[in-house]
Amino acid sequence: MPVSFLKDLSFEVKTLKIAIASDHAGLDIKEEIKGLLEEMGYSFVDFGTYNRESVDYPDMAELVAGSISKGELERGILICGTGIGMCIVANKFPGVRAALVYDLYSARYAKEHNDANVLIMGGRTTDKENARKMVEIWLKSQFQGERHQRRLDKIKRIEERLYRNMKE
Ligand code: RB5
Repeated sequence: MPVSFLKDLSFEVKTLKIAIASDHAGLDIKEEIKGLLEEMGYSFVDFGTYNRESVDYPDMAELVAGSISKGELERGILICGTGIGMCIVANKFPGVRAALVYDLYSARYAKEHNDANVLIMGGRTTDKENARKMVEIWLKSQFQGERHQRRLDKIKRIEERLYRNMKE
């Protein structure tokens, strides 16, 4: 990865309110990321889990994705063992664009191209250092608009069609 890959990222909106949650398999990374958010000066709401007792990832994902979908909070971070379960659940909520990221490239483009408002990581597939860097790069990247906005508009229209049909 070229050195310049991280250097040109200076965009940050410190007023963002962030929702964070994990299951038991993501607890250590969640605690690490809370420390990072504090260091970076972001405010956040920790929806749990708060100990190592086994919990079900759909319950945790619903708390974060629901708060983003309702517009109560602006960004979300979710961590389970692989990140896959959290991702499946989060993307069922209208207006949520949840991205499961494993490296700095996917973390950056999750924001630049997909305007991902929820970042998802695997507590058993990433180490703390990588997780910190992925969160930092996601927060410092800026949505690039233009053709990417057109694609997001299409996602929104799909969502509207599906949810309209479900209500009928
Ligand atoms: C819990 O063992 C594990 O299944 C969960 O954390 C997650 O990886 C699911 O996708």
